[in-house]
Amino acid sequence: MPLVDLRSDTLTRPTAGVRAAMAAAEVGDDVYGEDPSVNALEEQVAGLLGHDAAVFVPSGTMGNQICLRLVCPPADELLCGAEDHIVTYEHGGAAQHGGISTRTVDAPRGLLTVGEVEPQLRPAGWGTTPTRAVSVEQTHNRGGGAVHPLPELAALRALTARHGIALHCDGARIWNASVASGTPLAAYGALFDTLSVCLSKGLGAPVGSVVVTDAERAKEARVLRKRLGGGMRQAGILAAAGSYVLDHQLERLEDDHRRAREIGEAVGAERVETNIVPLDLTGTGYDGPQLAAAARERGVLLSVVGPRRVRLVTSLEVDDAGARTAADVVAGLLGR
Ligand SMILES: Cc1ncc(COP(=O)(O)O)c(C=O)c1O
Repeated sequence: MPLVDLRSDTLTRPTAGVRAAMAAAEVGDDVYGEDPSVNALEEQVAGLLGHDAAVFVPSGTMGNQICLRLVCPPADELLCGAEDHIVTYEHGGAAQHGGISTRTVDAPRGLLTVGEVEPQLRPAGWGTTPTRAVSVEQTHNRGGGAVHPLPELAALRALTARHGIALHCDGARIWNASVASGTPLAAYGALFDTLSVCLSKGLGAPVGSVVVTDAERAKEARVLRKRLGGGMRQAGILAAAGSYVLDHQLERLEDDHRRAREIGEAVGAERVETNIVPLDLTGTGYDGPQLAAAARERGVLLSVVGPRRVRLVTSLEVDDAGARTAADVVAGLLGR
């Protein structure tokens, strides 16, 4: 039975166009700063997000780890949402690599706003661990692909600026937010001191993320990247894939969003904003693992994200027929 795989948009395999771009890439030694394809990608991504500089890194996790160190000194405090990737899936990296004290705040659908953050800020001089940085996630993965509205982010920027606190964005799926909301990438970018953006999720590059920031911090980011073992040599092979997907596979994210909405309607998901269909199984007779196993038997793979929560993620790997199959199978199991 053919499988329809909706576990994650990280499963996307390179298209023929991506492979051709990689094969044709001009390369040099990027640790020497001499890889033309890496340099071009860094310039392209910095420009898209309205910043001066960017640094190509192997993964979104490394991108976040580098950014957090750029904005928060050791032992000082980072505030972030309780469901954020940086505190859920990065295995304590902020503490291990940066010595950072992280404090989490509950936020509906993962979206931190001024309402949650302001009462929690602890400025230097209070005798408490000083808050130095706030981190948000766009779109929010465990929040079901929720989009942070621009006005709320702008209000967070104003708040953090007033307190002299840095603002970081885990923008692994910032592309989806931009396509779904019609907000230019640079409008988001302007609000943050640092961003980590991923090329290897819905965009479909096989590997790679980019740290976006100012020129001074970018210099430090290159040192931190090297220290973490992320200095890559002929990395232009990968960077060329990144440039290709930005040029050719960004706007098609709208197709993923449409398919996710269609699946969401069929299975009775609460709210679908981008390419993630979050599904609460409370009252259905299934827990997450049971539904995942039953769907797998019928050729559909989905992810368990909590005892009674699963998600279905659309991507390049899921066409219209696959989305229909997934919708029919899951709706059928749930009797919807
Ligand atoms: C929101 C978010 N941030 C960061 C990452 C980390 O990316 P990587 O898997 O490339 O380390 C992911 C991965 O899925 C993610 O969903």
